[in-house]
Amino acid sequence: MQVDRLHLDLGGRVTGVDLAKTLDDETVTALRDAIDEYSVLCFPDQAMTDEAQLALTGQLGEPEEGHVKFGTTGEIDYLATIGNVVDATTKRDNADAYTLSQKGNNLWHSDSSFRSVPSYVSILHGYEIPGEGGETEFVSQRAAYARLDPERQLEIDDLYVLHDYVFSRSKIAPVHDNHAASLPPVAHPLVRTNPNTGERNFYVGSHARSIIGWSGIDSRRLIDELNELATEPTAVYSHHWSPGDTVFWDNRCVLHRGAGYDANKWRRYMRQTRVAGTPKVT
Ligand code: OGA
Ligand code: MN
Repeated sequence: MQVDRLHLDLGGRVTGVDLAKTLDDETVTALRDAIDEYSVLCFPDQAMTDEAQLALTGQLGEPEEGHVKFGTTGEIDYLATIGNVVDATTKRDNADAYTLSQKGNNLWHSDSSFRSVPSYVSILHGYEIPGEGGETEFVSQRAAYARLDPERQLEIDDLYVLHDYVFSRSKIAPVHDNHAASLPPVAHPLVRTNPNTGERNFYVGSHARSIIGWSGIDSRRLIDELNELATEPTAVYSHHWSPGDTVFWDNRCVLHRGAGYDANKWRRYMRQTRVAGTPKVT
């Protein structure tokens, strides 16, 4: 397995691994270590299938059930479709409700930060890619935390943040009442520590609504400041997809967003799974 760095703050291009095959323990350990080190891993030319992606997800930990279907209908699923493809001949256009709801992914976020057990890693595989747009952008909240001066780090170290899906996503598209009812806001520490490396990062993004115990105005000032610091243009790694790319990202410390694309013009078909985090985070 070879990893080539893609950006100073995060990202590695990984070759020499076939993710669609059962991985040996040594490879699983190497992948976990690479996730800790690089935060985003891009694997070109993977012969992925839904079955292989589910098996891969299970090898990295506990697959995380989707919240949209569960919240809305009570059914459990593990694979989400990202993009606008329905089948070989049908796609959803810009005006479609599902296309619109996915525009929420174009706000900087960490997957499932609004759940009591947020995601460890997301795995996204690209099958059909728009000819224009459709990139996925990533930034490191670890590198951004390191850019704060030590006094500022101390000031924020012990704060808690309320994360709220309805707060962030209802600005973009309506959230079904059942779905909203299944996702009450949850509090998480503002600063997290990687349990393996001891590295620290702040943990905000668009689902971060307020600082526990703070006024709205002070909450928004701090959360907006941290989001802006994390997402400065030079800090962004933008992934230009090719069909067959599989990308992992570490939701414990990374923010990501979709760059957007014209769904009237292009087909985009990607499948996403997530590995659940550990129940208690520090
Ligand atoms: C995701 C996501 C952004 C994109 O799959 O979780 O936010 O580029 N995707 O579609
Ligand atoms: Mn996402």
